[in-house]
Parts: sequence; C-alpha cells; structure tokens
Amino acid sequence: MKVIRTISELKQELSACRNAGQSIGFVPTMGALHQGHASLVRRAVAENDIAVVSVFVNPTQFNDKNDLKNYPRDLQADCELLESIGTTYVFAPEVEEMYPEPDTRVFSFAPLDTVMEGGCRPGHFNGVAQIVSKLFYAVEADKAYFGEKDFQQLAIIREMVRTLQIPIEIIGCPIVRESDGLALSSRNMLLTAEERNRALTISRTLFASLEYAMSHTLAETKSFVEDVINTTEGLKLEYYQIVDGNTLQEIANWDDSDYVVGCIALFCGKIRLIDNIKYKEVK
Ligand code: PAJ
Repeated sequence: MKVIRTISELKQELSACRNAGQSIGFVPTMGALHQGHASLVRRAVAENDIAVVSVFVNPTQFNDKNDLKNYPRDLQADCELLESIGTTYVFAPEVEEMYPEPDTRVFSFAPLDTVMEGGCRPGHFNGVAQIVSKLFYAVEADKAYFGEKDFQQLAIIREMVRTLQIPIEIIGCPIVRESDGLALSSRNMLLTAEERNRALTISRTLFASLEYAMSHTLAETKSFVEDVINTTEGLKLEYYQIVDGNTLQEIANWDDSDYVVGCIALFCGKIRLIDNIKYKEVK
C-alpha cells in the first residue's frame, strides 16, 4: 500500500495502472475509519484491480467550525486498517493541495439538496460536491463506493455525476451497524458512555417503526418516531422525514411510492447523528 500526498503523483501512478488495463475502484472518506468504511473498501478491493481510498477532512462541507475542529483524525490508524484490507493507494492530501485557491463553484441539485440535511446544514452539499468532483477528476475511477448511511449524499452524488457527465459508476452500500444496532459513525467516538447509551434509542426506534408501520398510516408512523425521540432525555430531534427514496421529497401515504425511506437527524448531547431506514424498496 502506498500513501500519496499530491494529485500529480496520484495521476502518474494511476495512469500507469490504467495503461496496464487495470480497473480502479475508489472510496472517498474523511478518515477516522471504522467498519462502515471498511465494508466499502472491501467491496472496492473485491470488484477492482486497484483500490484507492482518499482520507481528507474537507473543510468546505462543514457549516460548523467547531465540528471541523473536533472531527477525529488519525491517519496512522486509518492506514493500518486500510492496509489490512488490501487497499492499493491511500490519497491523503493537505488542504492546500485540494484547494490551492478558493473553490467558488456553486452547485444546485434542487430539490434533492434543499431538503433534510440541505435545510439544516447550509452549504454542506455544495462542499461535498466540490470535493467529490475534484477527487473524481483526480482519480478517474471506474467505480466509486458510497454508504447508504448518508442516504441523501448518495442521491446527490448520483445526480452530480449525471449532470456533470462524469464517467463513473456509483455504487451504494448498506449501512453497517454495531451489534446493538447503532449505525457506525466517526462521530460515535465523540459520545460519552451515557450519550452512547442514549443514541441506541435512534436505531431501536427506527426498527420498531418498521413493525408499527405495518398497521399504521405514514403520518402515525412519523409521529411515533418523533414522539419517542422527543421524550428521550438528551436527544434533540432535528427532523424525521419519510421520503421517496429517489426524489427525497416527503410523501403522505405509503402507496405514494414503491421506494420509501425514513431519514432522521438529531443531536445526542452536542453530537449530531443521522440514520435512516427503508420501509419499502423495489429489488
Ligand atoms: P465519511 O463520513 O468519512 O464517509 C465516507 C463514506 O463511508 C460515505 O460514503 C459514508 O456513507 C460511508 N459510511 C459511513 N458510515 C457508514 C456506515 N455505518 N455504513 C456504511 N457506510 C458508511 O461521507 C463523507 O465522509 C464525506 O462527505 C465525503 C464523501 C468523503 C466527502 O468529503
């Protein structure tokens, strides 16, 4: 495994691979890697000749300076994990390498980026699109892997690739959870033991709502989730929305779509967490 710091070196290495006929799989990350990230990388390793993983805490997607400052960073531990699962290249640039000058590009993926996270974190998806497009241009991968944990991000990346006509296949991968149900997140390590315990209510409530949904309307199911979260001490709900999985727009009835996903965002103490659950999916 080789750690690369500059775009020019990365391009040089990868063009040699491409000329040798090797396929390239790419997993963008912000580091502080866990088994959720590892599941994406394992898939990239299995499905391609070369697996490239970027580790870069992208400042332009943080709308909260403290969140950026406190975001966990441990490149050495990340490299150990990545090497153990067969990564070929780690791309870990400095901020100046990715942003030698401010990126003034303004993207709009409306209405995908105006709802949910788009409403709560102004500028967030613009920053995500800025960095992911730069990374896509640098890596020129055949396939890129994204987690359904960030359900809205995945939809927006698909839309970005479509509208910018970037020749890459986007592969969505299922959420990896702790054995007790909590969705893995780099931010989980910032939770105190008590908060970690409270955070369990999130996945438990989402799973309970699957059963509840079988005998209740969509509006009742939405209220069920909202009420449990709102009455749990230490949790502060930002939103729970039951949406069409393609358009990300809220629907009113279960029959309004055949791809139905519930997306939640909340604060557990000072830490913001997201999760989601599928009520219906066409296979
Ligand atoms: P990061 O939060 O590090 O996540 C990197 C990738 O890992 C994303 O595609 C995310 O959905 C996936 N992931 C995180 N937790 C997961 C879990 N529990 N199960 C499955 N997949 C999981 O998302 C970002 O970084 C950034 O926005 C990025 C795309 C790298 C752009 O900066």
